[in-house]
Amino acid sequence: MVDVALSPVEAGDGPDRPLHVAIIMDGNGRWARSRGKPRTFGHREGAKAVRRTIEAASDFGVTHLTLFGFSSENWTRPATEIGDIMALVRFYLRRELAELHRSNVRFQVIGDRTQLSDDIVELIENAERTTRNNTGLAVTLALSYGGRAEIAGAARRIAEEAAAGRLKPEAVDETALAARLSTHGCPDPDLVIRTSGEQRLSNFLLWQVAYAEFVFLDVLWPDFDRTHLASALDEFGRRERRYGRALS
Ligand code: FPP
Repeated sequence: MVDVALSPVEAGDGPDRPLHVAIIMDGNGRWARSRGKPRTFGHREGAKAVRRTIEAASDFGVTHLTLFGFSSENWTRPATEIGDIMALVRFYLRRELAELHRSNVRFQVIGDRTQLSDDIVELIENAERTTRNNTGLAVTLALSYGGRAEIAGAARRIAEEAAAGRLKPEAVDETALAARLSTHGCPDPDLVIRTSGEQRLSNFLLWQVAYAEFVFLDVLWPDFDRTHLASALDEFGRRERRYGRALS
């Protein structure tokens, strides 16, 4: 079999510390239900776990952290729950911006902003503008995000550019497509963590996780703390990444 050279790593197994960690934060609802509380309570505690995780990731030398906050499929949830999550996002963006900026975090959001309310889009743009030149941890929040829609959008842009004569079909390769994704300029995730024991990708960063390692943890997201992140990073350090190469 031909070994296709897709690896960003020239030699060796790459760093034993993941530079880009992507997290599917799952289990807020179950966490709340097990305490006889409404799901919103779980989301609120989940937001506290987001704060802890950003701090811990920075401390552990992670350079990029992507968090799946709300998927394109989550719009099918009851309107009251969507309203609660959006209120939390609004609250988070207002309340945490100063702290994120003080911590030198560069913050950005990926996903379909046309679905979000105008005031949330304004808060996002303000947070992105304020933290644009920060040099610490790059935090990406995926909101109203779906991997397939993102790839379809990139394909549509390529088709438009080709139809307008600005792009030759032979120039359409993996680099050209990746350059039209919302994550362009950001390294692909090295490690994907999903909490709550579920073992699915749920349409998260489909293109970008081609060579990521996966760690599934039994902890529910509101209980996630730096010890869980540390154990996922340890597990990552024990993996041998081969990018399609033969076993050494
Ligand atoms: C998954 O748990 C979680 C979500 C769909 C929402 C994620 C939101 C947060 C962590 C809080 C808000 C985030 C920010 C950045 C303010 P689930 O509800 O699917 O849990 P379940 O599978 O147990 O029902």
